[in-house]
Order: sequence, then structure tokens, then C-alpha cells
Amino acid sequence: MNGTNNMSTKEWYKPTSENISPFDRIYLEECRLPKERTSQEASSLGAIISAMQIKPRVLDIAGGFGRIGSELISQNLAYSLVNLDLNREFLDLARKNGVSEVVQADMRDLAFKKGSFDLALIMFTAFGYFNDEDNFRVLQEVYRVLDDDGVLVLDLPNYNRICNNFSTHREMLLGNGDIIRYEKKIEGNYLIEQRFRVVQNQSQKKLLPIKLRIYSVSEIVLLCQAAGFNELLVVDQELRGFSLTTSKRLWIIGTK
Ligand SMILES: C[S@@+](CC[C@H](N)C(=O)[O-])C[C@H]1O[C@@H](n2cnc3c(N)ncnc32)[C@H](O)[C@@H]1O
Repeated sequence: MNGTNNMSTKEWYKPTSENISPFDRIYLEECRLPKERTSQEASSLGAIISAMQIKPRVLDIAGGFGRIGSELISQNLAYSLVNLDLNREFLDLARKNGVSEVVQADMRDLAFKKGSFDLALIMFTAFGYFNDEDNFRVLQEVYRVLDDDGVLVLDLPNYNRICNNFSTHREMLLGNGDIIRYEKKIEGNYLIEQRFRVVQNQSQKKLLPIKLRIYSVSEIVLLCQAAGFNELLVVDQELRGFSLTTSKRLWIIGTK
């Protein structure tokens, strides 16, 4: 494993006392995923759950506003579901979305007993926010709180595809006409997206950046194995064989 990276010491992902974080209300707008994508992911999770042959106790790690959790609950796929997130505002939204069990916590310290869950989810790139040591600790924590034969689903972007088709800029139009402008760069093992909000095509406000540890497939596989997951499947979001060049997402399905 690589050493630590001092960028992480700033804890950029954490809401400040003013509740300013890369994952704040603006992020809710930025990352409003199409309903079809959530349905597709829920359908893949449904297939994984049916292969488990039990109705699982689910822990949705960094589950945000309950995008996936609410879907699993409404489809009656979970015996129970806990949505853990750092952001209280998102947890309140999750409750409104039908996810009643919410826990405000840091994913590096899962305050649950060994063996509390059958299925742990880390969806929509909610992994890779810290230095290498802490990222690994998240996986170790997941392993600990899973019961025997418990399953981890880790959903990451296909970083190989991103790096090979790298574009330094992109823009997103928000519902009110403002624009979020992204300046992207790769620094060492990290993908950094500096974000700016352009209001009414005039003033521009710098937002907090998003910083993600770039994992190659072999690296993330080795990391999951080192955490204890000895049975690993590497697929795409539709549970087809993963392709370095064409798959959009990388799903690692690890069994304890
Ligand atoms: C990209 S969103 C993913 C949300 C959700 N998994 C989904 O699929 O919609 C990342 C989430 O990670 C949460 N988060 C960031 N740092 C965290 C931490 N240290 N511990 C727990 N949650 C964290 C954010 O609040 C945000 O909800």
C-alpha cells in the first residue's frame, strides 16, 4: 500500500460548522442521477440479494439521502436497512425518502458490533476520500461489521476509462440557470475536481473541490483481499464481465 497523502488531513469531505462541504445542497443538484440509473442499480442489487438466499440486514455506507436505500426498502428487498452518512441534512432527507434507520457517523469508524449486517453497500463513488491508510480502514471496518458470508458491494467509476479519455473541463447546468464549472486534474493517485458556481452567467464562486483516490482494478482487488474478502467478483453495474475500456462502472462484490 502507498503511504499517506497530506491532502487528506484537511478532511475536505466533512461539512464545516457552516455546513459547507463538497457534499452539500449544491451537490444534491449536481448529482441528481437519472431515475433509470438508480432503478438499474437497484435491479443489480436485487439480483445479488436473490443469490444470497436471505433477506439481508443492509448497511448503506455513505448512503447520502437514501437514493439506493429507499429503493431497496420500497421493493421489500431488505430485512432491515441502516443508512450511514456524515451529513445530517442528507440523513434527514433519507428519512423523508422512507429510510427510517439513519446514523450520522464517519465511515472509518462503524459503530456496530462484529457481524451486524449481511450486505454492505458503498455506492456511487463513496470510497477513496481519504489517505490510503484510512481508505483501507473503511474496508476493514466493513469486513468486521459483516456477518459470516456477508457481502460487500463497492461501486466505483472505471478510472481506466476516465484517465484514458481525460478531459480537463466540464460544465453542468442547474435548474435555476446557474452553471457548475469543473476543472479536473490528476495529481499523483488522486483525481481532483475543482468546482465553480457561475451565477447568472456573471459572478463566479469557488466551491470546495472533490478529491478521489484513483484505484486500478488490481489495486482495489488487492485492497479488498487484504481486508479479508477472499471471494471477489469484478463486474460492471449490470453484473456483466468488467471491461477496462468500455465499462462505465466497476463493481467489486466481495464475500466474507
Ligand atoms: C457521492 S455521495 C454518494 C451517496 C450515495 N451512496 C448514493 O449512492 O447516492 C457521497 C456521500 O458520502 C458522504 N460522506 C463523505 N464523507 C463521509 C465520511 N467520512 N463518512 C460517511 N459519509 C461520508 C457524503 O455526505 C455523501 O452523502
